[in-house]
Amino acid sequence: MTSDESTNPPGDGPKRRAVRSFVLRTGRATAGQQRALVELWPQYGIDFSNEPLDVNRVFPRGAQRMIEIGFGNGEALLEYARDHADIDCLGIEVHSPGVGHLLLHSQTASITNIRVMCHDAVEVLQRLPDASIDFVHIFFPDPWHKKRHHKRRIVQPPFVSLVARIIKPGGLFRLATDWEHYALHMREVLDASSEFTNVAGDRGYVDRPQLRPLTRFEKRGHRLGHGVWDMEYRRT
Ligand SMILES: C[S@@+](CC[C@H](N)C(=O)[O-])C[C@H]1O[C@@H](n2cnc3c(N)ncnc32)[C@H](O)[C@@H]1O
Repeated sequence: MTSDESTNPPGDGPKRRAVRSFVLRTGRATAGQQRALVELWPQYGIDFSNEPLDVNRVFPRGAQRMIEIGFGNGEALLEYARDHADIDCLGIEVHSPGVGHLLLHSQTASITNIRVMCHDAVEVLQRLPDASIDFVHIFFPDPWHKKRHHKRRIVQPPFVSLVARIIKPGGLFRLATDWEHYALHMREVLDASSEFTNVAGDRGYVDRPQLRPLTRFEKRGHRLGHGVWDMEYRRT
């Protein structure tokens, strides 16, 4: 992604981003997930459009708002929404079986403070108003291990500027990764931004926040001996 690509305002014409942070996986949705994608979409889903996204229409009650980018199967998002009924949550994920999984479980748990978009989060964020979100979460984004793929990592200076634009002053950007090289890269990019301050100060990393549950993905990482690095940045 280039700085030009991630800051195009909506309505400026469809300029294609050359590099995306994901490759659409081929995994099939289960029958239940497929049914959820059809039947529960009207209740939870928001269709992507090229127009600016009217957050006040999506979340009319004026509560605090959280966005989770790349929620996978939604384990962390579901738990956060359940534990923070006073916060409105928007999950953005490109992998439709994961979206179906989240929809199914949102309904089972009678969760009402989640909305979902199945689209590239960068393009969604570009359509959000300035200073409209209180918390942005990105947990275990694809690390793109190989050097030639590092440009695909979503956390890059243009993306950080985009997040800074939509977060309210004082709002929090929370990140976690199980790949030390990516953690160092995130620190480098965010510490260099004048729009964020590192909540952990010189320590660099925060302790695992209670709001981030131990997901299946992370448990598997533990079994493989991976470490986990949590970061929290406050919008200045
Ligand atoms: C390694 S997985 C982690 C999933 C989840 N956060 C977890 O902790 O289990 C990264 C996820 O980010 C999604 N993703 C990557 N780039 C994205 C983008 N630009 N917009 C939306 N989702 C994205 C992928 O589809 C994938 O599900």
